[in-house]
Formats: sequence, C-alpha cells, structure tokens
Amino acid sequence: MLNRRRLLTAGGLALGGVVGGTLLLPQNGTTRAAANTSLGAHGHMAHGMAYGTAHGTAPGRPSPPVAPFRVRMPVPRVLTPVASHRDVDVYQQDIQPASVEMLPGIRTEVLGYGGGFVGPTIRARSGRRVVVRYRNGLDRAVNTHLHGGHVAASNDGYPMDLIEPGRSRYYEYPNNQPGATLWYHDHTHHREAEHVYRGMHGFYLLEGEDERRLRLPSKEYDVPIMLTDAHFNENGALIYAPEDTPNRNTLLANGRPQPYFPVAARRYRFRLLNVSNFRTFHLRLDGMTMTQIGSDGGLLPAPVNRDEVVLSPGERAEVVVDFAGCPIGGKVVLNDVSGPVLRFDVVTGAADDSRVPDVLRPLPALPSLPAGRTDREITLKVDMVRGAAYINGKVFDPDRVDARVRRGSTEVWRITNLDTDIALDHNLHLHLVQFRILDRDGAPPLPGESGLKDTVLVPAGTSVRIQVTFGDFLGRYLYHCHMLEHSVGGMMAQMEIVA
Ligand code: C2O
Ligand code: CU
Ligand code: CU
Repeated sequence: MLNRRRLLTAGGLALGGVVGGTLLLPQNGTTRAAANTSLGAHGHMAHGMAYGTAHGTAPGRPSPPVAPFRVRMPVPRVLTPVASHRDVDVYQQDIQPASVEMLPGIRTEVLGYGGGFVGPTIRARSGRRVVVRYRNGLDRAVNTHLHGGHVAASNDGYPMDLIEPGRSRYYEYPNNQPGATLWYHDHTHHREAEHVYRGMHGFYLLEGEDERRLRLPSKEYDVPIMLTDAHFNENGALIYAPEDTPNRNTLLANGRPQPYFPVAARRYRFRLLNVSNFRTFHLRLDGMTMTQIGSDGGLLPAPVNRDEVVLSPGERAEVVVDFAGCPIGGKVVLNDVSGPVLRFDVVTGAADDSRVPDVLRPLPALPSLPAGRTDREITLKVDMVRGAAYINGKVFDPDRVDARVRRGSTEVWRITNLDTDIALDHNLHLHLVQFRILDRDGAPPLPGESGLKDTVLVPAGTSVRIQVTFGDFLGRYLYHCHMLEHSVGGMMAQMEIVA
C-alpha cells in the first residue's frame, strides 16, 4: 500500500493498470499535512516525501554517489545558421544517439540533438524568423516542440506529427513574441518522458527587440543552465522507468553531476530551466540574493529579489547574481533541498558595465474582465486504481477536442489539483500562449509570478487562476502536466482555436 502510494507520489505512473489492484484509502493526517506546502516555507516536506527513501517499488538502486564539484559545467554551444537571408535564419539539427561524458571519466549513451545530452543553443531575435531542419538519425520516430513558442499548429510538434527514422523536416518559428528563454524538446506520443529524460532537449533563447538597451549582463556573462536529475547504473548507463523517480538522485547542471563553474567577480545573468520529468527544484544560493528578472515568457516588469527560486518541470527563471562582493577564491553553492546543484567558483576580477534597471519591460495590458470571472475549470487528478492521470476526469485522446477557444479571445482558467490525499503536486503547461497568473486560492501570485508564464505549479489541493489571451493561430494545441510521466499517463488535453 505504502509502496504504491510512493510510486504515484514519485510521479511514476505506469500505464494500463500496472499500478492498479487495490483502491487506496485516503491517507492519514500526517500525509495531508504535507500537502499544500510545496510553495510555502515548509515546502520541503512534500518534496522530501517523494524522494526521502530509495526503497519502494522503484527497480534497482539509486545512482552510485559522485563526489560533487569534480567536473566543470559546460555551456552548451550556440548553433550557427547554415543560411541567413534578409529576415530568416536557417538551422540544421541532427537528432542522433551519442556517447557523451556525463559522470567523470565514463561514457553514457544518450539520445540528443547535435551529439550531446544538452542540445546546442539556438539564439533568435524577436521579429526575425527561424527555420530549423531536423534530421532524425534515430531508430524511432520523434519530433520537436518549441516550449513557450507562438507557432502554427503544424509546426508545434503534435504528438502524432512525427519525423520517421532517416527522414527530416522543417519547423518554422515566427518569433513574433517578446524575448524569452524558450526551449525545445521531443513530444512523441507516449514517449516524451523517456526521450526528454535521455537528452532530447536544448535552449532556444529569444532576444527581445529592445533588450540590449537594458544593458543586462550579456555574452559570456549570460549563461543558460539546464537542471535535471538522472538515475545511472554502476556502468554509467541512464536507467529509465516511469516509476523510477525516487532513484533519479544524480542532479545535473548542463548535463554534468553537481559541477563547478568558474566566474568573475561581477554580475551574471543565469537562465535556469528545469527539464526534469518530476522533480521540482527549490533553489537557494548560499544566503545570497538572486535578482529575478525573468520567468517563462521573458522579462518581468521589474526585478524581484529572491532568497529561493522554485522551478517545477518546464519552468524557467532568469536571475542576475552579482559576485562583486565575493573574494577571489570564494565559492558560492546553488543548493536544492536535496543537495548541491552547482558551485560558482570566483576565480578572477572583471570590469562590469552591466546593470539591472528598476524597470525592465511593461507587460501587455490586461483586458479588463469582471473580477472573479472564470471561463473554464481544469482539474488534475491521478487514478490510483487504473494507474492513469486525468484532466477533467479523462485521459488524453488525440481525437477529442477538450476546449474550443475563439481566436483572439481572453479567458480565465481555474486549474485545480485534486490530489490532496496523496499530496501529489502537478503543474500545467499550455502550448501556444503565455498567460498571467491572477491568483492562487484567491491570494495574490507569488513573487516572480508577475510576468508571462506558460507553465504553472499547482500544489496538491490548491487552485490557480490564469488569464490567457489567444492570438491569431488556429488549430489544435496541447495543455498538460509537464511532469512528463503524468502526461504520458494521460494528464494531457487539447484545445482547438477556432475563428
Ligand atoms: Cu514542454 Cu507540451 O511541452
Ligand atoms: Cu510546450
Ligand atoms: Cu502531474
């Protein structure tokens, strides 16, 4: 009983009733007390419950320990266009198996873009189109989705819209949206969780038209950091099983375990992205303040000082950290509640003419809607008996449209996580749009949630209301929990934007 509960709370939903058999009774008061806390001061309880023990139903043992700070964190290379025309850059990407060094001195087989566990970074600019030709060098059909992008449905990486092995296809990204830290990843039906886990992800950094005049830290001082977790066996192979989340105990930053990263004693812009399938990172920087300047959809209206940044799967936070007060030789550790993630080693001084302006970027004006109006109710719940995960009581069906939305309209959605009994957090990601968070159970959104978002954490037993304006594109787009074992288990639905 306890094992089954752990399995589900660990995010590992097996399909087809593998989990099923016994109806679980509601949990006792201790468990309930752990609910609703993952965003609060005691948030670490719920987190620890999912990860605190390695026994349970997860197969095998956790990864062998790796001493932290032994390897240097790489910065993913920036992809060079194969052609550039007046208003479009064309890129070429190979999706291929690769053998890469993740753990020190050991090769690990991954499925990746361009031969790495972290794909190359695409740097794009608002108002300038990008076309990427993806060539599938794998033995299976896959696709690519641009998470956070406003793109036509035919270029969105729909789960059934796949590139067969040996074939290639073009995806077109108009980039008619404000600058933001976007990312690309696989979205193959029922296989996205394993594919993303094995390396099918990379950054897509969209620079806003007027961003340079802000003089935020740039070039080598603007560093994307992809966080995830993994389970390695003794030979360094990546172990994947949906129910194995408790054993994914190796934390990776840009694909290396708890690395160090040499920095100069000056300001940096770090773009933090959580690509893990289940883990929510609760990040603190050794007591230093992180100045959050951006979220999923790009710059916030104004910087916000944070002691802790919480990132559920798929979410991004851009923070500026100023190491100017640190002595040369100083070390600053970025910690998750489960352990260190990354250490910044201050190795040199440096001139710094960057700044963090008090005003960053105005948000698009909100159409005024009657307060308290809610257009759609979205519920998130796992089914312990069937081993399925539901949105509004249903598993994903590509032949069913769950929400019809009028092009250009503005709607308020209330997203409610009904998994109070098992204290299981979810989040919700909407394709196509960036939305605003209106409230959490009637209370104002958290610091750092005042900007544009495409993914929102919905802790067990809570509701979040979001306001979404749908643009010009027509067609079918997904919304789903970005804890990818949950979306594979059915916690995914689709909206159709109609004229
Ligand atoms: Cu990160 Cu359906 O996407
Ligand atoms: Cu997406
Ligand atoms: Cu979920």
